[in-house]
Amino acid sequence: MTNEMKALVKARPEPGLWMETRPVPEIGPDDVLIRINKTGICGTDIHIWNWDDWAQRTVPVPLVTGHEFAGEIVEIGKNVEGLSIGQRCSGEGHLIGKTSRQSRSGKFHLDPETRGIGVNEPGAFAQYLRLPAFNVVSLPDAIDDEIGAILDPLGNAVHTALSFDLIGEDVLITGAGPIGIMAAAVARHVGARHVVITDINQARLDLAAQVADVVPVNVATTDLRSVYPSLKMAQGFDVGMEMSGSQQALDQMVEHMVMGGRIAMLGIPPGKSPVDWSRIVFKAITIKGVYGREIFETWYKMIAMLENGLDIRRVITHRFAVDQFVAGFDAMRSGLSGKVVLDWG
Ligand SMILES: NC(=O)c1ccc[n+]([C@@H]2O[C@H](COP(=O)([O-])OP(=O)(O)OC[C@H]3O[C@@H](n4cnc5c(N)ncnc54)[C@H](O)[C@@H]3O)[C@@H](O)[C@H]2O)c1
Repeated sequence: MTNEMKALVKARPEPGLWMETRPVPEIGPDDVLIRINKTGICGTDIHIWNWDDWAQRTVPVPLVTGHEFAGEIVEIGKNVEGLSIGQRCSGEGHLIGKTSRQSRSGKFHLDPETRGIGVNEPGAFAQYLRLPAFNVVSLPDAIDDEIGAILDPLGNAVHTALSFDLIGEDVLITGAGPIGIMAAAVARHVGARHVVITDINQARLDLAAQVADVVPVNVATTDLRSVYPSLKMAQGFDVGMEMSGSQQALDQMVEHMVMGGRIAMLGIPPGKSPVDWSRIVFKAITIKGVYGREIFETWYKMIAMLENGLDIRRVITHRFAVDQFVAGFDAMRSGLSGKVVLDWG
């Protein structure tokens, strides 16, 4: 095997990413080396490309970027058990510590020491990735590398969607980005009564309707309450998933929840924003913040659902060879795409 590889690097503290030749990572005794086959572009990668305030505060330069991936194990550290060379895999991109109370009690996703590949540590936009064996998730034959490459954001959707019981419930999802759309598909899969998804971008709503059996509502032009009669809804929605990061969307969600409604919040507002807490109190609403995926319960559930009919493939709207990564990032930045997958093969 060669000891050099291609990688998409945040090489300079300015907008852009650059394809560079880098050394193949050396693995430690508890790591594996993964040959990357497909990667997904995340909104986080766009922040890193744009070099916004968050990226400048967070990302060390130079850094190999990317955290959504699928590939194949090509080397195994000497302490690693239960994995073999040739195993197809994806993996959890959150690297956790082992000493916090949360980790020691098995709540790995709540570890305060969490570091992200492609954000704080070398990432997956490369021909090879070093990953702790602990983080590897083996892929069954039913899940190809293209779907394997988007399990990270699907996991965000699954973690959010499974935060509250959805069976027979009326569900409101604000934000028809790739994660909101996948959450809608999950909500239908697990038995929600109605799933209404809102956006102010019609292209995104059209995509949502292609991927899942949902009621799309363009809240820039349509009153959300106008869908109630046809869905035989009296009071409002039982469960909400905030997936836009928009203050207006959260306000609208609170307004349209039933008394005692439950909201899972994945969307990240850009800064501090005013919240009408008295309305939340008087409606007795529960709000849960959702970060990442439950390690590894979310992975178990999503793989089981994918093996049993959950179909989110149409959320992938663009596929590019990695040498065309600029076109891939342009598609993402257009705001019109679903998931964009880069092929490293
Ligand atoms: N908490 C986490 O661990 C985590 C992980 C990944 C992503 N996120 C966040 O989750 C959210 C969804 O991710 P994504 O990649 O699908 O994002 P995205 O930016 O692609 O999609 C957000 C969508 O919200 C829409 N929107 C904007 N204003 C709206 C409004 N008033 N009402 C309804 N929709 C509105 C936008 O038009 C867009 O289509 C983002 O905020 C992202 O930052 C959080």
